[in-house]
Amino acid sequence: MTPVHPKALHVVYFSPTGGTRRVARRLLAAARTALPGFALFEHDLTLPEDRSGVQRFGPDAVVLFAVPVYFGRMPAILRGFRGLAAEGAVGVPVAVYGNRHYDDALRELGALMTEEGFTVAAGAAFIARHSQWPSLGAGRPDDADEALMGKFLVDLAKKLKAAADAGDEAMLAVKLPGEGEMHPYGVIPTPPRVLDPKDCCRCGSCAEKCPAGIIDPMDFTVTEPEECLGCRACITACPNGARNYPEPFASGIAARMAQIAAANTEPKKPEVFL
Ligand SMILES: Cc1cc2nc3c(=O)[nH]c(=O)nc-3n(C[C@H](O)[C@H](O)[C@H](O)COP(=O)(O)O)c2cc1C
Ligand code: SF4
Ligand code: SF4
Repeated sequence: MTPVHPKALHVVYFSPTGGTRRVARRLLAAARTALPGFALFEHDLTLPEDRSGVQRFGPDAVVLFAVPVYFGRMPAILRGFRGLAAEGAVGVPVAVYGNRHYDDALRELGALMTEEGFTVAAGAAFIARHSQWPSLGAGRPDDADEALMGKFLVDLAKKLKAAADAGDEAMLAVKLPGEGEMHPYGVIPTPPRVLDPKDCCRCGSCAEKCPAGIIDPMDFTVTEPEECLGCRACITACPNGARNYPEPFASGIAARMAQIAAANTEPKKPEVFL
């Protein structure tokens, strides 16, 4: 493929509890200034119905794909995802993590985008509030993050222009961090559930918001526990606090997260790769 001057920026995201969406929207806000003349588009892939079709992107498109980091990997539900199809488009994986680390998630997402046909020309890791422990990454992404996003997009546009002017695809190459065997995917032994039926008003919000579509809309039980991502969308969606992890798993998560929080008090800096 001969690189061309792109005209559109698409920010695609998967965001069960909203942190990745906040990063995506900050990227779009930064792009309004950093990329004048680009048409900007937002695509939410969080719910099963959002992922049922295939979206195609031509050679004038740059596609940023932002996903949360779970246990140092990208969400297992997106393994082998073929809902994005590049026909000459440039791809940029964006890992969003809760101030611990993104580990293998960025290179894993980069490999997925390559399999979907994108020419992966850059990558980035940004921080959002940790969905398991809200004090970790609290207030992120913030204005300083958005300023860095703007600089990243300007530098990306320069790289794309240089490659298009030279007609040289090799100039788009990028090395994403990490090598060797990847961390294993995390296992959720017990999904969140209604802990006490008298607290459940049967509003259905948890079933509507589950990105895996595994909550029965009639009785609100989890139908396929092995498919649970542990994303907490159902817990966040519940207006009554009726849904959560049962004991002793809940205490186990809290103890582990307290250790992780204590070891990661320093706010992490976004990282970009070009
Ligand atoms: C099950 C689970 C595992 C997570 N693993 C990590 C991790 O390995 N490193 C990290 O820094 N944050 C981790 N996080 C935090 C999320 O990456 C972060 O909160 C992200 O913003 C969540 O995205 P969302 O708000 O769009 O759902 C994890 C969160 C969950 C729920
Ligand atoms: S059941 Fe599992 S996958 Fe579905 S919203 Fe709850 S935590 Fe996420
Ligand atoms: S969101 Fe909460 S109150 Fe509503 S159906 Fe689910 S568990 Fe019940």
